[in-house]
Amino acid sequence: MTGTPTLTLNDGRALPQLGFGTWQIEDENAADTVRIAIDVGYRMVDTAAVYQNERGVGDGLRDSPEIFLQTKIWNESQGYERTLRAADKCLARLGREDVDMLLIHWPCPGKDLFVETWRALIELREAGKAKSIGVSNFREEDLRRIVEETGVTPALNQIELHPGFQQRHLREVHDDLGIVTQSWSPLGQGGAMDNDTIRAIAGETGQPASAVILRWHLQHGLCAIPKASSREHIEANFAALSFELSDEQMTRIDALDGPDGRMGPDPSTLD
Ligand SMILES: NC(=O)c1ccc[n+]([C@@H]2O[C@H](COP(=O)([O-])OP(=O)(O)OC[C@H]3O[C@@H](n4cnc5c(N)ncnc54)[C@H](OP(=O)(O)O)[C@@H]3O)[C@@H](O)[C@H]2O)c1
Repeated sequence: MTGTPTLTLNDGRALPQLGFGTWQIEDENAADTVRIAIDVGYRMVDTAAVYQNERGVGDGLRDSPEIFLQTKIWNESQGYERTLRAADKCLARLGREDVDMLLIHWPCPGKDLFVETWRALIELREAGKAKSIGVSNFREEDLRRIVEETGVTPALNQIELHPGFQQRHLREVHDDLGIVTQSWSPLGQGGAMDNDTIRAIAGETGQPASAVILRWHLQHGLCAIPKASSREHIEANFAALSFELSDEQMTRIDALDGPDGRMGPDPSTLD
């Protein structure tokens, strides 16, 4: 089996660079799907309270406590006390005493509660309920504010990132602050595989188009969490660990970045 490379977080812990996303996997299918992913070789699983599949994900991981497990606090649970309670509910659904990584799902700047929510995550880490803490969908100003107001830098920021939306500025901010970039919708929700350049490179390498895209994430030092439903797709994506792209192939994918590539919500307006 190919070993999964890891990234070192700013708290010293190791994060597997390729993980398994579970958004839109139904609770009743989550345990079986997660077991397939572990069997194929994935060593990290991403879920969230709002995905309503933490129970199934927890069941699928019951015999695999070594797998890096990450979940997220949903927007309506923001606020210090509410977040502490929401985290306990996540742990109860997952059937665990702790998670490897706990994230704030969205900053929700209109609510203006993310600083106290971040203070709750710091408390949860101190209480041993989250081994590492981070954020998702945070903009530069949100990151700088929590660092300035609490003195604690998130271990990672999980953001929308795929060849059509490469987030170069935010990646530079992360590098500057010592934050790992984790790519959500790394395959552009599947659409990035239809691109001509990606197809051409898949032909040149003899690898699945999805693996070419995921390899691009890995060679840029990003952590990617593709979601897939079938063993066939789960295996195709895992092939990203078994080959390399040339500098020239990387440059051609770098050129696919575009100003209108965002597919998900804009963190500035989602509350
Ligand atoms: N923090 C956030 O706000 C946020 C937002 C969105 C997503 N996420 C996380 O990021 C994860 C990944 O994002 P995503 O699910 O939006 O999109 P994605 O991983 O970019 O793409 C998933 C889509 O691609 C298809 N696919 C995957 N592998 C394939 C293959 N080898 N061949 C053909 N089709 C393939 C899947 O179909 P099948 O299911 O049919 O295999 C699914 O439709 C989520 O599951 C979630 O954990 C986080």
